[in-house]
Amino acid sequence: MNNFNNLIDMDDYTVPQWNEIIELAEKIKENPEEYGEKCKGKIMATLFYEPSTRTQMSFQAAMIRLGGNIIGFDNPSNSSVAKGENLKDTIKIVSTYSDILVMRHTQEGSAKAAALVADCHVINAGDGGHLHPTQTLTDLLTLKCELGRLDNLTVGLCGDLKYGRTVHSLVKALSCYPNNKFVLISTPDLALPSYIKDVIRAHGLEFTEVKTIDEAIKELDMLYMTRIQRERFADDSEYERQKNVYCLTKAKMQYARRDMIVMHPLPRVNEIEVAVDDDPRAAYFRQANNGMYVRMALIMYTMTREPKIKPLLVGEIHNKVCCTNPKCVTQTEEYLPHSFINRGDILVCEYCDERILL
Ligand code: NCD
Repeated sequence: MNNFNNLIDMDDYTVPQWNEIIELAEKIKENPEEYGEKCKGKIMATLFYEPSTRTQMSFQAAMIRLGGNIIGFDNPSNSSVAKGENLKDTIKIVSTYSDILVMRHTQEGSAKAAALVADCHVINAGDGGHLHPTQTLTDLLTLKCELGRLDNLTVGLCGDLKYGRTVHSLVKALSCYPNNKFVLISTPDLALPSYIKDVIRAHGLEFTEVKTIDEAIKELDMLYMTRIQRERFADDSEYERQKNVYCLTKAKMQYARRDMIVMHPLPRVNEIEVAVDDDPRAAYFRQANNGMYVRMALIMYTMTREPKIKPLLVGEIHNKVCCTNPKCVTQTEEYLPHSFINRGDILVCEYCDERILL
């Protein structure tokens, strides 16, 4: 049983709760000074096993602006991880030093694995190519600020939909609001994983798959560009083949609606021409700024809400079955129970969502 306010996946909170966090972020944005003492005396640990600029610094700036303090590392080779310490031991200890722990890790399902042993709230700041719920809160706040709504949107998602964790969490979230429609723009090799497509279907929403930006741009309310996730490819030659397929140019923007916005979780490599930055519809820098306010709201919410006691693993334990995802946290953290949701002919790994055919 766990009695912390973890944010591992979007469904840890209900839609009204996301709305509450976003509304709080809007209020904070208007008047940040008013919140300067909300986390006085509290400590947040940021453990970043993978590179980060915005996520890490916006979390740290958020905590400092709330009057709290920060500890942590941004390079595991400077910590005992370099001596061979497992995730469990690092989290067990650091979570006793802190009130809230924010972790980014290379392995899928690592945030859930951390929450299983942590002695404080755990926030997933990205677990491999799996999920990135706090980027999604940033994206929802941006949509709210720029377009005034989270429903009735036609959203284009372009680039690396396979490994782009921000896309996975965003699609999950936007699927919970009525009448949203998705246009998935990718090469067949980098298509959205089927477990995310199933979420769209389960909400009775529509999606189409196209190969070019040109086919989609005219009908979109928002175009979400993403970087090809080089670090997730097993083979760099495959990355080389995929890397320059999509580029949003000023010329393409001429075909977009005057009220369409362009979002990108950043960092950009070359999927948006720099000349697009001056277009008022380019919302990605405003989006990055929203990240700090939404994280202030999330930290406050996490600290003040009465935790709902619930188990983190609800499936069946099959210790003889191994998850087939080579990037799943269970591959290296051998002490973890192999927990799966049984869907009849498949087992779904409770850490990384991999489906295993029986
Ligand atoms: C994204 C990430 O880390 O998944 N960046 C971010 O958090 N803003 C996107 C990316 O790295 O491409």
